[in-house]
Amino acid sequence: MAERLTGCGAGEGQKTKTDRGRSKGASDVVVRGARAEDYPAVRELILSVWEDPDDELGIWDYTTANDPDLRPEHTRLVVTARRPVATATLLPRRVRTPRGWVPGAELTLVGCHPEHRGRGYGRAVVRDAFRFMASRGMAVAVFHGEPDFYLRLGCAPVFASVRTELEVVALGGELMGAGRPALAEAGEDDAPVLASLYADRVAVYPGSVARAPEAWVWRVRNRQFHSLFVLEDRRGYSFVSFGREGDGLLVREAAAVDERAARGLLGGLAREARRRGRSSVVLAVPFDNLLARLAFLLGAEKRLRPARTGFAAVTRWEPLLPAGYEVREGSPPEFGADGEVELRFEGRPLLRCRRSALTQLVMGYRSIDDLSLLGKCRPCPLPERERSMLRGDFPVGFPHYSEAPYLFWL
Ligand SMILES: CC(C)(COP(=O)(O)OP(=O)(O)OC[C@H]1O[C@@H](n2cnc3c(N)ncnc32)[C@H](O)[C@@H]1OP(=O)(O)O)[C@@H](O)C(=O)NCCC(=O)NCCS
Repeated sequence: MAERLTGCGAGEGQKTKTDRGRSKGASDVVVRGARAEDYPAVRELILSVWEDPDDELGIWDYTTANDPDLRPEHTRLVVTARRPVATATLLPRRVRTPRGWVPGAELTLVGCHPEHRGRGYGRAVVRDAFRFMASRGMAVAVFHGEPDFYLRLGCAPVFASVRTELEVVALGGELMGAGRPALAEAGEDDAPVLASLYADRVAVYPGSVARAPEAWVWRVRNRQFHSLFVLEDRRGYSFVSFGREGDGLLVREAAAVDERAARGLLGGLAREARRRGRSSVVLAVPFDNLLARLAFLLGAEKRLRPARTGFAAVTRWEPLLPAGYEVREGSPPEFGADGEVELRFEGRPLLRCRRSALTQLVMGYRSIDDLSLLGKCRPCPLPERERSMLRGDFPVGFPHYSEAPYLFWL
């Protein structure tokens, strides 16, 4: 359905209507960046959008109070009758891609007031956020979200779900024994060490987000359900949750400087799981993480599921392309829809595919052979010469996006 909600960068504050809105006799609709004086109304909106808003309200209060990079214009709004009815917030961050770090954002707090849903406002506010990003030179957004909603908007699932589950009941001996460096709850002074471990061991995958070595970035928002542990010799850390994953202790993030530290950290986590009456340690970290490798060697089970709720959205292609490549698409690009795009090399068309499929290729989630096997690109089959070049220029990796401790309530 054609939508005419516009706004953002170029057309800030433009008044417009959706076709759906018109048919319902809605008043004029404005899509724009927030101003500081909108904050109380945005907070009210967040309270109305989510039934149990502790999590979302906490993210709003915490980031607006602490994040020095978050400015009012990074919150995008759909406003009717002078009240915001849909909202989306961008936390500006450097994002890692297969081509290196690029300016980007974490997308969060996307919501529409229940009484205004189904009129295109949710799509409009996300589309506006992407246009805003493009206008500010931000190339890629990463986030978790409702698959059916974001797939329609041209966003691509790129973060696979990984689990390495180690039963602790059967563990004994060296790993569980005493004499290993103990785990302690990380304090404010640990932020620089944690940031350095994170940069070296965690933020090494496409989709990772850079984190500052400042205390607010590393604060745990709800200690009832989460802990940030650091080895007492500070050679490893782990962020864990207690409220999820059945009986297991859920390890959301783990970094160890070497194999000895990995043994110490996994042993400490297993002891912690046992102390809390949990039967397993569940590592939600890539399989090549030292702790996941060690857990597997000790008898853990691995589970890998294709990406479903972990998304990337590309808002500028150039920083994600090797030299000689370019992407042709409508002008201006059609954000908020999964339209067709063309990948070219030195001016020559190579392939056509949906925006989401190209996003999977440039983020290193799907290889050209995967896309071809799925029938997601044309021509089909792709000539071997082009395919072999694309194989070399767009190698498949393992995108992984790990959210900072302050983003979790439950
Ligand atoms: C998700 C949400 C923002 C959508 O807002 P909305 O204004 O109703 O969405 P739109 O009218 O712009 O819908 C755009 C498209 O997404 C679809 N859609 C909307 N909400 C959806 C949902 N929850 N799940 C799947 N698809 C959805 C619509 O059917 C529409 O598709 P169509 O164009 O093919 O008809 C809104 O339902 C909401 O605030 N939900 C609660 C908060 C939430 O879950 N937010 C985070 C999303 S991860």
